[in-house]
Amino acid sequence: MRKLLIAGNWKMNLTLAKSVDLASGLKKNFPADTSAQVALIPTFVHLPAVHQIIQDTPMALGAQDVYFEKPGAFTGEVSTEMLREIGVQYVLVGHSERRHILGEADPLLNKKLRAVIAEGLTAILCVGETLDQRKAGRTQAVVGEQLNNDLAQVSGEAIAAGHLVIAYEPVWAIGTGLTATPTQAQEVHAFIRGQLSRLFGAALADQIQIQYGGSAKKANAAELLAQPDIDGLLVGGASLIVEEFLGMVRAATGVKKSA
Ligand code: PGA
Repeated sequence: MRKLLIAGNWKMNLTLAKSVDLASGLKKNFPADTSAQVALIPTFVHLPAVHQIIQDTPMALGAQDVYFEKPGAFTGEVSTEMLREIGVQYVLVGHSERRHILGEADPLLNKKLRAVIAEGLTAILCVGETLDQRKAGRTQAVVGEQLNNDLAQVSGEAIAAGHLVIAYEPVWAIGTGLTATPTQAQEVHAFIRGQLSRLFGAALADQIQIQYGGSAKKANAAELLAQPDIDGLLVGGASLIVEEFLGMVRAATGVKKSA
């Protein structure tokens, strides 16, 4: 049985005071009965403050990025070890903004992903096509290539131990208010699971959580989560509002995915 994972990617938003307020609001109103896993992913510099607030709650801490090298002379970068030490459990790898705005390419992302797993953390690997690629009928080719390249040399043991989550985030749906329809999303999620099965075998592919991301919100959460291969949401804008985010956590409560 796959659990659902609802993760809030706060991106480069909020002041420290507002991050603290948001984490405190989520803690105060967190539904006691949720069966979903929940992660908060603030900017690096707010991680310790958010960790302090959520450490005695079911909410886990995530980071938006990482560098793959061991600690050393890499000015401006943050290592997996530094993240683990301050309570981080999840790390985003290959978010579309890092791919398309910061220019990160698959070989770098593969190194980051493997470093995260080697540290015993869980990588949330983000994949997805642009609007032009979708219009050209290249969605599966693009997503398939990202998976092949970014997951090279990842072991079945790491997957069995739960160190990999995939997030399907169509670039055209991120921060645009356009959401993939549940059917459009399910189609790509099923394709992704098929690719994971080809790479790691069907039994392991069935254990991997595949989140949807791209203008997810309280109002569309239930219908997205009802799809057989959508195992959670990676949420940007709507994760900055307590009621919106917890609405999605509630929508995930009780939803079961057979593996
Ligand atoms: P959005 O962002 O929910 O604001 O579209 C999703 C994401 O980038 O993870």
